[in-house]
This record gives sequence, C-alpha cells and structure tokens, in this order.
Amino acid sequence: SPSLEEQLYRPYYHFTPKVGWMNDPNGMFYYNGYYHLFYQHYPKDNIWGPMHWGHAISTDLVQWKHLPIAMYPDDLGYIFSGSAVVDYDNTSGFGKDGKIPIVAMYTYHDPKKGDAGQLDAQTQAIAYSLDEGNSWTKYEGNPVIDNPGIRDFRDPKVIWDQERGQWVMILAADFEMMIYTSKNLKDWTLADRFGKDVGSHEGVWECPDFFPMQVEGSDDVKWVMLGSISGGAPNGGNGTQYFIGDFDGQKFTMDKNFEEALAKKHDFWVDFGKDNYAGVTWSNIPPQDGRKIFIGWIVDGHYANKVPTTTWRSTQSLPRTVKLISDNGIPRITFQPVKEITNYIGKKSKKDHVSIGVDQETVLSDGDFDFSKAQIQYSIASLKDKGYTFKLSNNKGEELLFGYDGTKNQFFVDRRKSGKVDFHKEFADKVSIGPRLSDKDLHDADILLDKTSIEIFFDNGETSMTEIFFPSAPYSKLSVVSENGDLVLDHLEISQLKFN
Ligand code: FRU
Repeated sequence: SPSLEEQLYRPYYHFTPKVGWMNDPNGMFYYNGYYHLFYQHYPKDNIWGPMHWGHAISTDLVQWKHLPIAMYPDDLGYIFSGSAVVDYDNTSGFGKDGKIPIVAMYTYHDPKKGDAGQLDAQTQAIAYSLDEGNSWTKYEGNPVIDNPGIRDFRDPKVIWDQERGQWVMILAADFEMMIYTSKNLKDWTLADRFGKDVGSHEGVWECPDFFPMQVEGSDDVKWVMLGSISGGAPNGGNGTQYFIGDFDGQKFTMDKNFEEALAKKHDFWVDFGKDNYAGVTWSNIPPQDGRKIFIGWIVDGHYANKVPTTTWRSTQSLPRTVKLISDNGIPRITFQPVKEITNYIGKKSKKDHVSIGVDQETVLSDGDFDFSKAQIQYSIASLKDKGYTFKLSNNKGEELLFGYDGTKNQFFVDRRKSGKVDFHKEFADKVSIGPRLSDKDLHDADILLDKTSIEIFFDNGETSMTEIFFPSAPYSKLSVVSENGDLVLDHLEISQLKFN
C-alpha cells in the first residue's frame, strides 16, 4: 500500500515528479492532441542539483502521464529553464521527410565557470525533436547565443510573431529583459532591452514570458510581459511581476495608463500568495481554442528544499487561463482555473442566501466533503466594508484560514496552524494582500483544493492567491464567520472532485 507520505501529500491532480526534485515548468507546447509539460528536474535527489528537463503529457491539462527524461546535462552545462515551439514552416531546417520539428530553446549553465551570477556562466542553446517531443537532438552549433559578459543571463521564451513573420525571444539578463528576433531559431539579433528602471529589482530577474493578447471586449491587442523575481514580491518571497504595452516587432513600450498606475505603486503581480513562481504560458494552443494557458511552480524558493516530502519535491499549479482586461482603462491580467477541471466534479452542494454572523461560526459542511479534492465557489452581492473568514479544519486541530479583511481591504490566507509548518521560518505565515481592485459590488471566489494546495481566484480572477500546506489529515470541515456585520453569501457551491 502507498506510503503515508504518498497518501497524505501526493496531490490528486497537481503535477509532481515521480521521484526527485522539480522546479520551474519548461518548454510547454501543444501538439497533436497533447499538452506537453517539461520541467527543471534533478532525478537523483530531492534537492536542486544538475538540471535535466523532465517530461509529462496530458490530454486535458488536469491528469498527467510521466514520460522519460527529455534532456540530460552535458559538457556545455546543466539544462536550465527555457521554452519550446512547434516550427510548422520548418524555418529552422531541422524538419526531415515531412516531419515537423519541435524546437526547444534553453539556457546552458556551465558549473565549471561558477554560479549563476558569474559573468560568462550562461549561454543559450537549442535542441529539436522530430517525434513530438519524445527524443531531442541538441544542435551541433550550440550555443546559439554566447554570453556577452552578463550575469544571470537566462530562461529564453520564444514565440512566433504572426504580424511580422519572425520569431521573438525574451530572456532575463542582469535584472532586466533582453528581446531578440530571428528568422530561423538559430541566428538571433538583439532588438531591445527593457526594465532597468521599472518594476521591482529586489531579486534576480528570471523566467520571462512575452505574448500578445486581445483586451477582453475590444479589438485592442497589447503585449504582456511576465517576469519572475527571486525576492521582493508582495508576499515577501519570490514572485512574478508583469508589464503591459505595445511591441512594434523591435521595441516594447509600456502602455501609458499602465505606466502611470505602476508609478503610483499599483500592484501588478501574477499571484499574491507565497507560492507561485517561474510561471510561463503554453506555445501553439490551436487558434480555434484561443486560450493563453499559464502554469507556475507552487512553492517559494526560500523553503523549496525543505518542504516535508522526501520521495519527490514540489508541485506545479493547476494550469490557468490568462485574460487581459481593462480595469477603468488600466490593462491588467486575470487568471482562472482551466475549464477542464469541471469534468471532474462529482457530488455538489448548492445553496442560495447563506446568512453568516459576526463572531459566530456558521458550519457549511462537516464530514460531507473531502476537502483534499474539492472546489468551493461563492458570491456576495454586497460586500461593502464587511469581511469574512473561511476555516478549513481536520480532526487533529489543524486549520487553514482564508478570506477578506473588510477593514484593511485585503485578501488573506493564514496557514500558521495548517499542519506541519516548522520546517522553515518563513513558512508559518498569514499573507494579507490586496487591495481589492474592482469597485463593483459583486464579489466572488473560485477555490481549488488538493491535498497540499489552495488556489484562490477572487473577483473573477482579478486577484489570485496560491499557497501550499501539509496537514496531518485531510480537512473535512468548512465554516465561516463575518466581520463588521452580518453577511449573506448569495450563492455557495461546494463540489467534490473525483480523483483516486
Ligand atoms: C528559476 C531558476 C531559473 C533557472 C532555473 C534553474 O527558479 O533559477 O532562472 O533557469 O531556476 O533550475
């Protein structure tokens, strides 16, 4: 029978490596019915080490099948983060006998030269696959971009720029972004640098992404730039900030409203929990689907080496759909869980007009649902300056709290008593963050729970919070109290997810 660790901590539907260490998601593309996911992987230990690319596939972004390791470190170094694209027109010339090449671009980190901060330790390289990502041939002309004497020069993310008929690649380099263009994925020209004077620089810039999106409800197209940074996030640890603007094929310029809001210290972060890092989006989602789909590594780098699993370490988020909205003229991105998760809904409880009182716990479910695989959704038509706290608890006296603080106008997750928390000093924490963006009355939340994670999408995904936890038994009870007056949950739905 499965070990206690497998029973308690192996997620039902979030991706984990079978054994060994995992960090960033890498090289995700869609081809021929499969979503491919690669990831930073060290198979021989449960801590970070010489990097490989692990590999998994899925037909629905929810359940994953493990495949053999895709790329191993070699003489040029460890295989750091990167991306992959389907080269339909064979611009690279790697295609043969009508076979379409998939081309991966990644960073070589040469450990002989020193650590990542060393001026010449990192270069960019490519590899191709003619069998849908199963086996990879590293290009003999690697590296395709040598190091120009820049520290922390890594994580190339490639996209086909339809409008200009060129490949565009962004990478992080010495606390800013560098944008390159190419016609064949082999020869790259530096087009622009961005970010030295904007955004947070309290950590190293890593794992960028760069893609056009239509603003919801309009014909406007803007380019979204994501960038992970290894410190200084709103939650105190690692986080992913973003910038929105225009791209003319060479140069990225921030949108004026976005730039003003950023200067006024608006928060433009992908997630406001402690645990969502190095996230990027899928390539080659078919146009008839049209989604932008994002996945992130859900742990904070500060304690990733310490989380209390031994066989494997780390989890990826549930893939999320990205949207670009205009919030009173300010462009922002929102995140929602991929719709495929609803295919796994089993029994459901639906209630309208649930009154909840101040200082008095309203029990919403006790023993009817297993909250280690569940979805909770609610809406509140009139929140005003009221707040609320939901509590998930088990029979061991452990509890996970989340909600909205009506006085501070902030969302929060409190995992201080959620289970095992003492393995690192930054883990036991209450994260309060906001502010709530929209001035509309309706407030809602969509929450996904697995054995060791909570992902909350507040206000139609305007604010998301992701946190992990390690309880000694599944949470089986859900209750709620309000703050600053009684409150009505106009609609509440609890769904059991069906996974074995
Ligand atoms: C982010 C990161 C990347 C790098 C990879 C190495 O977590 O530091 O910048 O490519 O991890 O594993």
